[in-house]
Amino acid sequence: MASTLFYVLCLFIVDVANTMDQDDIAKLSASNLQFSIDFYKTLIADPATENIMFSPVSITAAMAVVHLGAKGQTAKQIEEVFGFNRLEGKFHSTFGELHDQMFNKVQNSTKKISKDSSNLEDDKKQILSDSINVKKTLFDSTAENDTIESPFHQRFDPDKMIDIFEFFVSGDPPSITITSSNRVFANKHVEVLEDYQKALKVYGAQVDLLDFANNPQKSVESINNWISEATESEIPAMLTTDSLNRDTQLVIANALSFRADWHFRFSEENTKPKDFYVTQHKVVKTPFMFREGEFRYGFIEDISLQILELPYANKKYSMYVLLPENFDLKKVEANLNPDNLTRWISQISNTDVEVTIPKFILEESLDLVQVLPKLGVTDLFDGEKADLSGQAKTDIPLFVDQILTKTSFEMNERGSMVTSAVMVGMDYGIPFSYKQFLADHPFLWAIRHQQTGLVLFMGRIQRPDGDLTNHDEF
Ligand SMILES: *[C@@H]1O[C@H](CO)[C@@H](O)[C@H](O)[C@H]1NC(C)=O
Ligand SMILES: *[C@@H]1O[C@H](CO)[C@@H](O)[C@H](O)[C@H]1NC(C)=O
Ligand SMILES: *[C@@H]1O[C@H](CO)[C@@H](O)[C@H](O)[C@H]1NC(C)=O
Repeated sequence: MASTLFYVLCLFIVDVANTMDQDDIAKLSASNLQFSIDFYKTLIADPATENIMFSPVSITAAMAVVHLGAKGQTAKQIEEVFGFNRLEGKFHSTFGELHDQMFNKVQNSTKKISKDSSNLEDDKKQILSDSINVKKTLFDSTAENDTIESPFHQRFDPDKMIDIFEFFVSGDPPSITITSSNRVFANKHVEVLEDYQKALKVYGAQVDLLDFANNPQKSVESINNWISEATESEIPAMLTTDSLNRDTQLVIANALSFRADWHFRFSEENTKPKDFYVTQHKVVKTPFMFREGEFRYGFIEDISLQILELPYANKKYSMYVLLPENFDLKKVEANLNPDNLTRWISQISNTDVEVTIPKFILEESLDLVQVLPKLGVTDLFDGEKADLSGQAKTDIPLFVDQILTKTSFEMNERGSMVTSAVMVGMDYGIPFSYKQFLADHPFLWAIRHQQTGLVLFMGRIQRPDGDLTNHDEF
């Protein structure tokens, strides 16, 4: 029993980056950051765009699946836009392994727990699984040193104490669930090549054959069911019946689901409606969360930009919020490039901050067929030019009809009042002056995986839901 437990824990705390070539990861991360910013800029080029959210990792995964079967100019355009060429032939092995380690390990090791404990009675299984959860939470925050010791023997660390209190008070340790799933849906009359099907396994993907021509309705249902399952019902109905037509040949889908608790939860008691300034003169009333404490924070003087890091459970992922001190988000966006962003983020440090930030829920669907041509991926969607001969043998050349990504994101307190009361109590121990981080006007945000630097999500909050009123009216 003890050895089973140990084995499972090892899987949980395995260090993604340590098992892989650091240099390749750095190149992958650089490509991902460049693409994230390029894509962001393409979306904001449309002046009608308000809020934005997309997942660079999810889009890259979908395009990697396409790229495996693409040749010639079609492949080349993808390599350039997504920076696959920076890894000189090692893109798929590197991203594939990372994809597998980041998104599949936890699921598989969870399965292992139930398998290994199959001979225990149910209540024992529950106890085992509970204790694994506690240990996972406690040990995970020490993962950087790769040692498994009782947390109580470690030097006092307020973060760790908060984790422990969170658990004992609420029985609900902060956790992260992240999954990314890929699938190719092809016309059933297409003969998908064996080699392509094998290559797809690097992304855990497979090809489903559907009868688009004779049964579009059923095809839509199949795709929607898959996406719903892959996102644990967060995204129940991605396609509508008119999304597909009789000529549809190929649909590529990636579903990413990220559910994470804050490392420091916000107290629901402190959440109050406040004005969000859409412009200097127009406001929307929206609920704001509040928390004071030590955060990584910085102020970039050149462009009057505040940056705040909000870590998720165990600090494996963080959200970075970029808030211009004035209303000049455009100026920040104009200065946004990988070097500047990396430099700005390197300037943040532990600071006592009073954070006031809106709760928000975003749900965005993107059909990449509308966006990618603006970045330079064009042949793939052109019936005359697309070369997907590595994917299937067909009389008429295949081209991609749709690449769908849908992301839903909710930012909230994720903490009970009891839990927060404990944490607020601890905060009183730091009676210094606090920096104000008041995100009551448009800001940019991104969520990054700390170990690899990969950007998971990026977006902008420009206009929360609600009625727009004049600032002067009250
Ligand atoms: C994860 O589990 C799935 C299904 O059980 C399996 O096909 C896949 O190879 C596993 N991945 C790893 C990394 O073990
Ligand atoms: C990890 O080890 C380093 C050097 O031994 C030490 O300074 C650091 O505090 C350790 N981190 C944790 C979380 O124990
Ligand atoms: C951003 O990068 C550009 C190009 O390297 C540089 O000219 C500019 O000064 C940078 N902006 C800031 C605010 O650092």
